[in-house]
Amino acid sequence: MAWMVSLNRFNPPFIRSAAGAVFTDVDGNDYLDFNVADLSMTMGYGPAPVVRAVSRQVLEGAQFLLPTEDALVVCQLLAEQVGLPCWQFTLSASGANIEVMRIARHITGREKIVVFDGHYHGHIDETLVSQGAEGVEHEQLGLPKGSASQTLILPFNDLAALEEVLARRDVALVLTEPALTNCTLVRPTPGYLEGVRRLTAQYGSLLCLDEAHTFQFAHGGLTGSWQLKTDFVVLGKGLGSGIAFALYGMTREIAQHLEHFTDSDIGPPGIATGGTLYASALAVSVARACLEEVLTSDNYQRINHLGARLANGLRRAFATHNLPWLAFQLGPRSGYCLTKELPKNGAEANLSMDAEFIDCRRLFMANRGIWDGILSAGPQVSFVHTESDIDRYVDVATKFLEELFSAK
Ligand SMILES: Cc1ncc(COP(=O)(O)O)c(C=O)c1O
Repeated sequence: MAWMVSLNRFNPPFIRSAAGAVFTDVDGNDYLDFNVADLSMTMGYGPAPVVRAVSRQVLEGAQFLLPTEDALVVCQLLAEQVGLPCWQFTLSASGANIEVMRIARHITGREKIVVFDGHYHGHIDETLVSQGAEGVEHEQLGLPKGSASQTLILPFNDLAALEEVLARRDVALVLTEPALTNCTLVRPTPGYLEGVRRLTAQYGSLLCLDEAHTFQFAHGGLTGSWQLKTDFVVLGKGLGSGIAFALYGMTREIAQHLEHFTDSDIGPPGIATGGTLYASALAVSVARACLEEVLTSDNYQRINHLGARLANGLRRAFATHNLPWLAFQLGPRSGYCLTKELPKNGAEANLSMDAEFIDCRRLFMANRGIWDGILSAGPQVSFVHTESDIDRYVDVATKFLEELFSAK
């Protein structure tokens, strides 16, 4: 797969097995994992609740194309934790974002989508775009020409820029992570997300908070823990713990609209949602096990402490070498910021990282048994890491800086 090549610009190891926070390659080398498959394995490898759920559900029927009770429990738990009452299932966060866009376009009767510089929302025609000299351009090949013209890219943390665009009243959806996690880390400035909510409501656009990553940062995601108001929330990745699973939450009004326009094969066409394996009994049982037994507020609290330990360790390492760098931290996510101030948008975030530095560090650390975060991310604490795992990461990172800065 292209991603396996592009995310690791050295020959990737082939993996044989894994347990807890460590995976082992076919040559028998162990790696303490701080990438956790780009946050899709935050429960660790072989978590007992997931093993139990998978074993039971494969035996009792993995898929019926009919609902199971587990789906009701998952929706109930998410409604309580995130604050949106109604949920729909997909196989990936990309798929969830695609459906959210379709629903938003149908409700508003508008076409345009707003995303923010530094965004990533999955492999979707409209959002695989960046700002070029001539306007919004596709970042990859093979995409339909017209799709880039439906997307507007704005700087994050800039309410005036957003208002200028929304005031034209042709935007169906503003799609954003509550904190950008795909260009290292950009936090919202105080009041920014509340401002986004206010402006979208004022100008008749809908808002989707994409928490495919950030749901692993805080109980109920950032939406729940920061008590954000929104029309949609997208979740995925770690909730399936390796089984393809994602879903999106929505307000009751939107759910009523979706119910009214449900595509039922006979009669008039409805909104295009759904797929054969969406909400499979297997995936939903795994999500329930994760929510009930791993994603507890105590466990989130624990990994938040570990995230702070990691960030503090990096700060110490930078100070030892008199480096004017900062350590990012948002809950269990940390990382290296090579500028003197934390970035406030995607453009600043680009300046805060250096691809060669990251490639070099990842290779150095891989050769010493640590699997570091990919280029656009940073080291991520998982639910199975321990204090000594964090200290080991910091030790090897410190050695890397020593070697780098003592090199002649
Ligand atoms: C914020 C965000 N949304 C959506 C996606 C797409 O997820 P998937 O590849 O599981 O569809 C990603 C993937 O990294 C992501 O970071």
